[in-house]
Parts: sequence; C-alpha cells; structure tokens
Amino acid sequence: MSFDSLLRGWLRPFAVCGLTLALVGGFAPAPLLAAAPVYEKTPAGAKAERFVDDLLGKMTLEEKLGQMSQIPLNQKEDVTPDERILKGQVGSFLFVTDAKEIDRLQHLAVERGPHHIPLIFGFDVIHGFRTIYPVPLALAASWDPSVAENAESMAAREASAVGVRWTFAPMVDIARDPRWGRIMEGAGEDPYLGSQMAAAEVRGFQGPEIGSADHILACVKHFAGYGAAAGGRDYDSSDISDNELWNVYLPPFEAAVNAGAGSVMSAYMDLNGVPATGNTFLLRDVLRDKWKFDGFVVSDWDSVFNLTTHGFASGPEDAAVRAVNAGVDMEMTSHVMRDNLADAVKKGLVKESTIDAAVRQILLMKYRLGLFAHPYVDLARVSAVEESAEERDGAKAAAEKTAVLLRDEGGLLPLKSVKSIAVIGPLADSKADTMGSWSLAGDKDATVTVLDGIRRRFGATAAITSTKGVEIERGQPSIFDSQFWSPDPVLKTAAAREAEFNHAIDLVKQADVSVLVLGEAQNMSGERASRLSLKLPGEQERLLEAAVATGKPVVLVLLNARPLNITWASEHVPAILEAWYPGTEGGDAIAALLAGDANPGGKLPVTWPRSVGQVPIYYAHYLTQIPHDRDTMYWDGSSAPLYPFGYGLSYTTFALSNLRVSAPDVKSGGALTVSVDVKNTGAAAGDEVIQLYTHQRAGSASRPVRELKGFRRVSFQPGEEKTVTLTLDTKELGFWSAATHRWAIEPGKFDLWVGTDSNAKEHAEFTVLP
Ligand code: NOJ
Repeated sequence: MSFDSLLRGWLRPFAVCGLTLALVGGFAPAPLLAAAPVYEKTPAGAKAERFVDDLLGKMTLEEKLGQMSQIPLNQKEDVTPDERILKGQVGSFLFVTDAKEIDRLQHLAVERGPHHIPLIFGFDVIHGFRTIYPVPLALAASWDPSVAENAESMAAREASAVGVRWTFAPMVDIARDPRWGRIMEGAGEDPYLGSQMAAAEVRGFQGPEIGSADHILACVKHFAGYGAAAGGRDYDSSDISDNELWNVYLPPFEAAVNAGAGSVMSAYMDLNGVPATGNTFLLRDVLRDKWKFDGFVVSDWDSVFNLTTHGFASGPEDAAVRAVNAGVDMEMTSHVMRDNLADAVKKGLVKESTIDAAVRQILLMKYRLGLFAHPYVDLARVSAVEESAEERDGAKAAAEKTAVLLRDEGGLLPLKSVKSIAVIGPLADSKADTMGSWSLAGDKDATVTVLDGIRRRFGATAAITSTKGVEIERGQPSIFDSQFWSPDPVLKTAAAREAEFNHAIDLVKQADVSVLVLGEAQNMSGERASRLSLKLPGEQERLLEAAVATGKPVVLVLLNARPLNITWASEHVPAILEAWYPGTEGGDAIAALLAGDANPGGKLPVTWPRSVGQVPIYYAHYLTQIPHDRDTMYWDGSSAPLYPFGYGLSYTTFALSNLRVSAPDVKSGGALTVSVDVKNTGAAAGDEVIQLYTHQRAGSASRPVRELKGFRRVSFQPGEEKTVTLTLDTKELGFWSAATHRWAIEPGKFDLWVGTDSNAKEHAEFTVLP
C-alpha cells in the first residue's frame, strides 16, 4: 500500500478509535498475565544490558519480529491493533497523538502483552507539536544553534506530555536544489552549518541524555543522500560521488550520531544503484562500524517493501531479508519483515543472531528512554504543558531570529509613523500556511497570521485593510491534504478573481504602505512537493508588479521554504523580508520586525538563484579554469546568485576590521584562533553573524573555492564594538580525498576569510604543518 493511501486513511482519530474499540470489544481478551513488574530507570549500562538480554532470552522469534514492527494505528488489516499488541506483534505505533489513546494502548501492552514490553509511539515532531516553531530551514537561517535546540526542546516537552516519545527528526539531508520540496525540512546546502544544526536539534529533542524528563528520542533521517534526488524530483534516485558523499552529504549525519541520536531512519531512494534501505555500506560499514552508532535503525515508510519496487529485491521475503541483513532494525508501515523473517531464519537466509541484535537495540532504547519504568501518560499534565506562555514566547523569539532581511532601500523598514497599512496577499491571513508543512498536530486556531499580528501591533495607530488579491492553489492534491490540512476556500470564476485583484490594488493605492504577503501555500513545500519552476505561484507576481506600479511603498513579506524567483522584486520592491513559514506566533513576530521592535539578523542557509536555470547552485563550488569569470558561464544570463549563502541585512550596519589569526602556522591536530573587530555603525541594536571560510590552495584533491568553518551570531548595541573570536580547529580542515580515498588533514597553505556572508572580504593566510 502506498504512503499516500495509508496516510489518507490515517488520523481520523475518533472514527479510528471507535472502530478499534469496537473490534477489541468483540475479541476474547487473553487472560490477565501476572502483574507487570516495576522497572527501575537507570542509564544504559551493564544493568540495562542484563535486563534486555534476560528479556530476549524469554521471547519467541515471532515476538522478536513484533518488536521490529511499526504500524499506523488504523492500518487496514484483518488483525486489529489491539490484537497485535496482545499477541506481541507490534513494537511501535506511529501517528497516534491522542494522549488517552496512547495511554490505553500502552496499558494494554504493558499489562496484557507478552513480557509486558512497552510500546514506543513515534510521530513527526518536526518544528513543534501543538505550538509550531519556524520550519527547519528557517531555524538554520537563525545561524544560532541554540534557537534550534530550544525549539526542539520545547517541541519535545509538548510531545512527550501526550506520550509521543519518539520523533522522526532531525532531517539532516543536505539540499542544493530548491526544486526539491523537502529542502524545507533541513538546514540547507552546507555541511558545516548542517552539522551544527543537526547536533543542536538532537540535543533539543533528547536533552542531556536519552531518557531525560520532558524529552524524546531523536531519529536522524533520511540516511543517506535523499537531498540529491535527481532533478529535484522527490523520491528519485541519488547518484552521489564518493567525494560528495563523504564531504557534503554524510557529515551532518555523523554530527547527529556523535551528538547521541538514538535512532536513524533509512531513506526511501536508491543511492548509487543500491536502495538506502538495503544498503549494507551505509547501514553497517558507515553507521555501525565507522561511526559506532549504538541506537536502532527504522526504515522509512514502506521502504522495506519498496526494495521490490526498486527492482532490487525479488519479492517480499527477499526484501525483508536484504533489509535486515543490511542493518534495518525496525520496519515502518510495510510488514514484510514481520511476515517473512521467521521462515527466512528457518531457511538460513537470516541468522537469528541478526534478529536478536536488532531487537536488542530496540529494547535497549526503550529501556534507556525510561519506558519500562514510566510507560504511561500523565493525562493531568497534558494541558499544563501544551501551548504554555513559555512555548509561545519561545516560538515568537524563534520566528524573529529566523527572518532574513533581503532588501531595505531608502530605509522603508522599520515602518515609521504610518497611518494606514494594506495587508495584501493569499498568505496574509492564512493560519495553515503560517504554520508551514509538517505541523500535523499543530494548533491551527491558535496561530497568529501576519494580518493578526499587524492589527495587534499597529491597529491602535493605523487603519488596517486587507484582502487576498489573488488565489494560489497547488495543481495536484498533496499527501497531507484533507487529513491534516484543508486549503482555504478560493474564488473560482475569472470575473470574481479579477474583481478581487482590482480591489487589492485599490487598497494599495489608499494606504500609506502595503505589506504584500506572498510565497507558497504550505502544501507546495515538503514531501512530494517538488516544483519545475521557482516562480511565485499563481498570479502573485502580477499582483506584486501592479502594487509597485501604483507608486506607493510596498514591503514584500515572503512565507515559503525554498528560494523563489524574486529577481524582479530584488530590483523594484524596496523592502523584502524572508519570513519562511514562521509558525504559531509568526504574525506577531513579523509585526515586531516590521515595526522595528525586533531587528532581523537571520542569514540565508542556501544560495538564492536568479532563476531555476542556475540550479543546482551553491557557494562551495570547485574552481574552474576561469576562476575570476564565474559570472559569465551562461551566454544568456548571469551565473552569479541573486543572494549569496550567508546573506542577510539588518536595520543597522556593521563594520569589520583588524582580522588577526593567532599564528601564521599550526600543526595538524592543533587549533588557531581567528579574531575580528566588529562595530555596530548604525543607530539600532542588532545582531550580526560573523562567518569564517577557508580554502586549501592545493592538496591530493582539489577543494571547494570556500568552505564555512565557523560562525557566531553576536548582538550589538548601537555604536558598540566587540572583538569576535572564533576557534578554527584543524580537524575541520580534514577531508575525504578522492585521490587517496582516505580522510586526512593535508598540510599546506590555506586562505581564510571572515565576513558577514559567503563573499566575506577580510582575508588572511595560514599554513598547516605536518
Ligand atoms: C515518510 C517521510 O519520508 C518521513 O520523513 C517521515 O518521518 C515518515 N513518512 C513518517 O511520517
């Protein structure tokens, strides 16, 4: 069954619960087993291992396979979920978010399931649970790992309160192609920034250690290479050279594993000819042998069964055998492992010790999470935790920190003493679109739109008018439509649309200033949401150009999660604020930014192309034989990006000077300190992100023109000057050489630049000695 159809059948919570309960009612319950033992929570160690080994020794092969199976609650099968629990045929459910239902199922498993093994409930807690934070690409745009850590920590608190103890996040896939809709879910194009964010998100979800109170298990995904989908087409295969794999795509996964991530999700797609879910090189050689990963691996949705559709496995049994032998420990949604592995063990296709090793990892993780000690949901606590003032303040602060000011000509922003504001655009008052994709359990009603925020902030002193102006609709339904998200109603006839368009332009003419809230509806970004074009969908460009043609000042606020073609706007619209999908408190945060109560300080985590024809485009490219002429690589247009990686403006200005490096050379394995004086030369307080890039001049293999190797976001009062110091550890200069096929720090001469985007100008040199 496809992801689509399963998802469509999913999350009708009450109907589903009703059905489940009815079926259970008619099912003869197993006699009550001995009372569940009370387990003590301890960190993993000898005691945990003894406990798990003891448990494993008592389990049948079928019960072990049950632990390796993860199903959605309403998967259409002859056997009900309750029966599966009682027979020990399931170890985990996904997509259950109702606290009472989670608690009921858990009681069933712990009190009446074989061996009293608790279930683990997983859900996509991607950028918030009920309170929604900015999408992950936006969190990366904060260039402040503590913003991401804090957001995921709060998300974990809300999710754990209802009994969701496992998230399928962080998504750490490097993405260099904005056509790919899932660029929204990761940290963008750069392995260094991506690694910092990956580690921060793991810390946020899991807390100081696995099992920390109010925290949940992280799952690093999608291992590996999903972001390189050919043509930006979701699910398409990835063909990645070893050079790119080791130096670009794998580092964020390694960072997440080193940060202690307890689970990893194998990707859907085919990597270099071997599907990731059956890929022994990835799952055993890299993950287990090289990185010493000690958690468990879950497949992506149906990806074990889909080893057959890839033309890789000959049938369901072969798929199950190849997945488990490659290193998949738990199967999400398809159940070919549960249904075939007992026979496969008997036939000698899989060793029972392989099954034991998989189940051991799962049980150990359940133990470390504290599920054996505290399996149930504290129902009284749910409402105390959900959407607290602290959560909402955190979400607002995050949205303020993630916005990127792309243009501000003539100081239009922050808005000063305006008497009337027209808030125009299809996204201006859309709650769902303010939250963004993957906010499946988010509280839509509580979401503050840009219109709400502007009314609250400016309404006492300015007249606020608003209308959509144009409609935007996705051509085909998204996998999340209907179950999780209902697009707002739209005007259907051409005449009604034209009248609406003209009405919007009239409002623009009548207002002192207009805020056009344009971009993409949330279902245009995320899974199965790739695009051929990067244009503003629908008639938004026409609306924007007509608004500017009125001669009235226009501010463009973008709600989206991929670079869009705003080349015309970059020359004609005086102020452009990239607000991403900012989440529950998005409208208040954007209003605060427009008013100057907060100053934008975010920076782009992706290179912003001028047109789709430049894709893929990224700053860390290799040098060519015409290194100084890179801007003329197409005869019909520029090859330079519209905005470079790391770019973002502020309501104030900064001057950098006096770059110094602690020593002219450094021994391999040592570290340098790099300092620069930074002065806020404007009248507003603000943040600047100091970025450090290096280039190795020569080596066994060529190296990118520049690579980010350090950054820090620092706050400054007006006129304030500070020395910002970054540590450059030579470990960061190591790379996997396509010539030697080894990772090494190669001695030699390096260039170093410090600045406020990837075109950083302050330059120094240093040498790495053997
Ligand atoms: C499929 C997606 O690829 C993955 O990211 C997600 O975690 C699972 N579905 C579960 O929803």
